[in-house]
Amino acid sequence: MRVLVAYATRHGATAGIAERVAAALTTAGLSAEARPVEDVKDLGPYDAVVVGGAAYMFHWLKPAVSFARRHRKRLAARPVWLFSSGPLGTDLVDKHRKNVLETSRPKEFDELTKLLHPRGEQVFFGAYDPGAPPVGLGERFVQHLPAVRAALPAGDFRDWPAIDAWAAQIAAELGAGQPRGPRHDPFAAGVAAPGTSRRA
Ligand SMILES: Cc1cc2nc3c(=O)[nH]c(=O)nc-3n(C[C@H](O)[C@H](O)[C@H](O)COP(=O)(O)O)c2cc1C
Repeated sequence: MRVLVAYATRHGATAGIAERVAAALTTAGLSAEARPVEDVKDLGPYDAVVVGGAAYMFHWLKPAVSFARRHRKRLAARPVWLFSSGPLGTDLVDKHRKNVLETSRPKEFDELTKLLHPRGEQVFFGAYDPGAPPVGLGERFVQHLPAVRAALPAGDFRDWPAIDAWAAQIAAELGAGQPRGPRHDPFAAGVAAPGTSRRA
């Protein structure tokens, strides 16, 4: 089974998460590759797709949104998962006692859920180096607002265990590591009659 992990990134953090998910899926026995959404023209060769993007100003990066909309028919016809790379820092709860992974859900996820019927979605902590050169005029502007600088602490925290656990769930749903075919199934092989316990 071939799995594509397509991602949109501005500063590289989301690329790192996508590579990690693809590596975990590969370790689980699937054939997985991480590629920037801009490089993916055809979903034909893939049996399942994970789409990831960074969140900026409450929105999923445009190339990720465009990719999801453009390929909606093919995506909806396959097992698909969405992830966003977003909140900075390590605290799960903000000063309003809200779960930051929930409040950082990109605005487009409601629309994309209706379009693609993903099997799952996940927001992961992001990473950002405030010393990195700003990308685009918009970022150049907001990056220097005192309120934004205060809200964007330096850090490269990524919740690798959560990322690995999510990838493991996907692998399990895709049947990775499961024995295939009737020869491995005691019911199909007539070893146990349907309706009886496998332990019996
Ligand atoms: C100007 C700016 C705005 C951001 N806005 C958000 C946001 O609205 N929600 C969020 O969860 N993260 C926000 N972030 C954090 C990024 O999503 C995070 O750094 C992400 O991991 C970056 O991924 P990338 O390196 O792949 O672009 C913002 C970061 C910057 C620099």
